[in-house]
Amino acid sequence: MRIHAARLWRHLDAMAALTEPDRPYTRRSFTPRFGEGRAWLANAFRTAGLETEIDAAGNLVGRLPGLDDGLKPIVVGSHSDTVPSGGRYDGVLGVLSALEVAQTVQAAGKRLRHPLEVVDFLAEEPSEFGLSCIGSRAWAGALTRGDLERKRPDGMTLAEGLVSVGGDPSRLASVQRKPGTITAYLEVHIEQGRVLENSGVPVGIVTDIVGIRRERWLVVGRADHAGATPMNLRHDALVGAAHIIAEASRAASETIAATKPLVATIGHMEVSPNAANAVPGSVTMTLEVRSGDDAAVRNFGDMLQGRTRDHLARLGLDLVRSEISHALPTPCADVIRSAIGEAAKALGHSALSLPSGAGHDGVFVAAAGPIGMIFVPCRDGRSHAPEEEITADQAATGADVLLAAILRLDESL
Ligand code: GLV
Ligand code: MN
Ligand code: MN
Repeated sequence: MRIHAARLWRHLDAMAALTEPDRPYTRRSFTPRFGEGRAWLANAFRTAGLETEIDAAGNLVGRLPGLDDGLKPIVVGSHSDTVPSGGRYDGVLGVLSALEVAQTVQAAGKRLRHPLEVVDFLAEEPSEFGLSCIGSRAWAGALTRGDLERKRPDGMTLAEGLVSVGGDPSRLASVQRKPGTITAYLEVHIEQGRVLENSGVPVGIVTDIVGIRRERWLVVGRADHAGATPMNLRHDALVGAAHIIAEASRAASETIAATKPLVATIGHMEVSPNAANAVPGSVTMTLEVRSGDDAAVRNFGDMLQGRTRDHLARLGLDLVRSEISHALPTPCADVIRSAIGEAAKALGHSALSLPSGAGHDGVFVAAAGPIGMIFVPCRDGRSHAPEEEITADQAATGADVLLAAILRLDESL
């Protein structure tokens, strides 16, 4: 049984067309454009014969009953939201590959033993509420009351945001997938790096997903007139922020984590009052640290604060830090890695094992059962950018390996 490669490619093109026109490829979660993508997907799920609903956490879920509905489901999916100006394939390839598997199984007149669930998780990318992996976080029971009260810049709360996409924050507990409630979770994703491309290998078997910690760093100085305040009397928060950013980059480059590499990024900031003729009074920014070594992730912020303390004091600036999120490194299960490897081999594809430096919903789904991921190469490793590109063959290979791995796991688990 093989997937329908031309149909998968057509679906990828159809979703790519649902973008903010001046900012390809953008479908930010909780926006009307995201809703258009969701409507397209829900229609495609239903047309494929899946029982389709939005769960209380705002995930789009399509179900195919199994021969034995007493068995726990095999879950397969990814996310259809994107970062700004990126994401032609990041996420949506996994959702459409999952749909393709369901369609192929249906068209072959085959029934799986296990129920199959095709899922588009809500807001995998960091959303305007400052949180990522919102839908899968809820499955893990890790979406807190405090999270629901988070506000995006226009004042909407996350609870209201969930309602706006068809979720129901009052029933969040009902979506929690307790440990042992899924047979397996599989996701196809572009690698977002260059390992596969440089090796000329079409299939990646993910060994583990990095841990990610995000902290809000608020640098507090004093807003003043930019013309009338001499340089020696300023408390310029942006000058302090610039020092922190440069030092974060230096510290991450110097950090040899005990066993695994580490990266640190400050990719988001807000300057107040953000005026050409005002000395910056405060800066809010997000420090993101990733590594397979949780201790290194955990310690990085303290280390960076220590390295910048004297400089900030000289500028007369205060620093207030708060945790936004902390996801542990997550291993992929041996049983799923083996199934992916055997599936690739049976289809005549070489495969290699590699860690994921990107975060994925699987980190939270892992609370419910074993997870695994299939990577396909993307051109020059580019991702989170409009240049993200793959070929139709690469997409088809990922979906074929996904189908073959699911068929194996359906038999063996
Ligand atoms: C998800 O795209 C991530 O931030 O790794
Ligand atoms: Mn992404
Ligand atoms: Mn992704």
